[in-house]
Amino acid sequence: MSNVRPDTMVRITTPELAEQFIAEQVKEVQAQVGDKKVLLALSGGVDSSVVAALLIKAIGKQLVCVHVNHGLMRKGESEEVIEVFRNQLDANLVYIDATDRFLSLLENVAEPEKKRKIIGGEFIKVFDEEARKLEGISFLAQGTIYPDILESDGVKAHHNVGGLPEDMQFELVEPVKLLYKDEVRVVGKALGLPSSMVDRQPFPGPGLGVRCLGAITRDRLHALREADAILREEFDKNGLATKVWQYFIAVPDMKSVGVKDDKRYEGWPAIIRAVNTKDAMTATIEEIPYEVLHHITDRITHEVDGINRVLLDLTPKPIGTIEWE
Ligand code: XMP
Repeated sequence: MSNVRPDTMVRITTPELAEQFIAEQVKEVQAQVGDKKVLLALSGGVDSSVVAALLIKAIGKQLVCVHVNHGLMRKGESEEVIEVFRNQLDANLVYIDATDRFLSLLENVAEPEKKRKIIGGEFIKVFDEEARKLEGISFLAQGTIYPDILESDGVKAHHNVGGLPEDMQFELVEPVKLLYKDEVRVVGKALGLPSSMVDRQPFPGPGLGVRCLGAITRDRLHALREADAILREEFDKNGLATKVWQYFIAVPDMKSVGVKDDKRYEGWPAIIRAVNTKDAMTATIEEIPYEVLHHITDRITHEVDGINRVLLDLTPKPIGTIEWE
């Protein structure tokens, strides 16, 4: 498959077109791979999940999925990867809980770029270690999509496996590389993946690491994850999940004084970020009804240990980036 989308290629917008694409790709992948084994870093994001489902259909157990939990996932996400791929799709899935490795390396590291480097570097190390334990892998599958090719050198940076050592280079299998994001979602649905996976918001490779600001501690990371889960639940319930492109909580490394049970209570603030955008280059602020904001504030401050205030970020991009880092 070339890296250029032909002008004649129809935009996949319906289940029928998705089925047709899936049938073609199944044949193509089977022809490329034969009876060899394929390795895939399955992050649980939309693109790698759709590639996994497609390859399971094409080559079943010849696909080995490796899911590395770096301890910086949103609440329930690694569990969902295991449930969907191991339990429902009967995939060959290697699950590695590397939380302790990542969090101990990140201890006392406050500088954003350093944190990113540590997370990216350790991801490659863990993935590489697992890949070496497996015998007879000939191919590496990647969830590269068309915008990745248009915007970069074609290697999906946040998949991180682009940085594997020289002796771990494989032939690539990239079945969705000519698709746009909306098409990947349509294909994912046709493959039977749940909406919670296919309609997922973009999530940075370093995960909650860019939202737990400053040096990450386990207690503040835990508070962030719980507050973020409440935000997502309330956005779902109030019909905002389909209106807002990306929404999450960031928790800075600072405390303020509050009162709880008539006692002084020092806690962190939870910052709500909810933006709309087409391409993530610029972003606008979506209006959230005050009623919903009050309810979210009430839940987070009462249900999440360590948080005593909820703030709303009203800054468009530019000037503010989407993530706080
Ligand atoms: P910023 O913060 O630069 O983010 O306005 C723009 C979009 O990119 C996402 N983002 C990432 N996505 N790997 C990714 O795949 C990353 O390392 C990364 N960092 C930021 C961010 O969530 C937003 O949607």
